[in-house]
Amino acid sequence: MKALYFNKFGDNSVLKYGDVDTPQVDNDQILVKTAYSGLNFADIYRRRGTYHIEKHKPYINGYEGLGTVIVLGEKVKNFKLNDKIFFVDVPLANAEYVCVPVERAIKVPHDLNPELVASIGLQGLTADFLAHDLAQNVLGDRVLIHGISGGVGQILAQMLTADGINVYGVTSTQEKRSLALKQGAQELFLRNSSWLEDNKGRFQTVYDGVGKTIEQSLLLTAKRGKVIFYGMAGGNPPQIDLLQLLNQSKSILTGDLWDYLTDSTQRNARAQRLFKYFQNNKIQISSPTIFPLSKGKEAYAYLESGQSTGKVLLKL
Ligand SMILES: NC(=O)c1ccc[n+]([C@@H]2O[C@H](COP(=O)([O-])OP(=O)(O)OC[C@H]3O[C@@H](n4cnc5c(N)ncnc54)[C@H](OP(=O)(O)O)[C@@H]3O)[C@@H](O)[C@H]2O)c1
Repeated sequence: MKALYFNKFGDNSVLKYGDVDTPQVDNDQILVKTAYSGLNFADIYRRRGTYHIEKHKPYINGYEGLGTVIVLGEKVKNFKLNDKIFFVDVPLANAEYVCVPVERAIKVPHDLNPELVASIGLQGLTADFLAHDLAQNVLGDRVLIHGISGGVGQILAQMLTADGINVYGVTSTQEKRSLALKQGAQELFLRNSSWLEDNKGRFQTVYDGVGKTIEQSLLLTAKRGKVIFYGMAGGNPPQIDLLQLLNQSKSILTGDLWDYLTDSTQRNARAQRLFKYFQNNKIQISSPTIFPLSKGKEAYAYLESGQSTGKVLLKL
């Protein structure tokens, strides 16, 4: 089968497109013919060798996708051939065929377009746990999101707005700023302007998936408020002085989506809660940027450049 693979960690030049062995299903797995594999910042960390990756020779990146069931393991119930399924936390997904453990398979709802479901993907489930588990925002809170027009940012912003939270954002370009305002944010700040001074201590919650901005985020947070640190798209965060946090009654919360998708029941309940926002037209995301898997190298470079708006998908 065709796959995007690499033999050593490094920059984008290590990525290769070509033939690898087709995987064989175990009893409790289904073989999926991939239609889309979603690209995430974690795949860049993995390619660089700075994040956990499935041991495999060669390495094949990608932990989410959508496709059609073509083989059922002997013990599989509740799924049938030709079912359309969506999966996250399943390794080796930048490939034509993926073995998906049944407890990690989520059926694609009939009333949602599969390309939309692939675009919601892992970023949507991330937004859901950031909004509903980690932060515990209260109706009317002021919440700031860094990188608000990114994949997680767009869904998180509209989900919080639909939940009655006042959403503010930071972004790098006028174009991304306009998009976030159109999607319901109250006020948008341009990253390279002098907005920081005027907004110190203004937000009950600051969502920071950029990482290197964590000190800014603490300045922006109100006393008794919290920073939700969930990624480092812009670079690793500096060390934080806990005494300084204590003196100002500010907290940093953090978490990894995988620790919330603990079993099939959790996974499906969270996916249904997320899909409802789309079924009820509460969230509209920008169209994904789609690259064929054979051009995967360009897709990684595009995501890594920070220029992307919304989801980047690899199509097979
Ligand atoms: N904790 C978890 O379980 C979990 C799960 C999934 C994702 N994540 C994290 O969530 C974060 C956002 O992921 P995403 O998929 O939404 O990515 P994304 O679509 O690329 O969005 C990231 C945004 O960060 C901003 N940014 C600022 N500095 C940047 C830089 N130097 N390089 C690239 N982007 C930069 C960009 O927005 P502006 O140009 O507007 O500033 C960009 O749109 C990542 O850190 C990712 O690792 C965490």
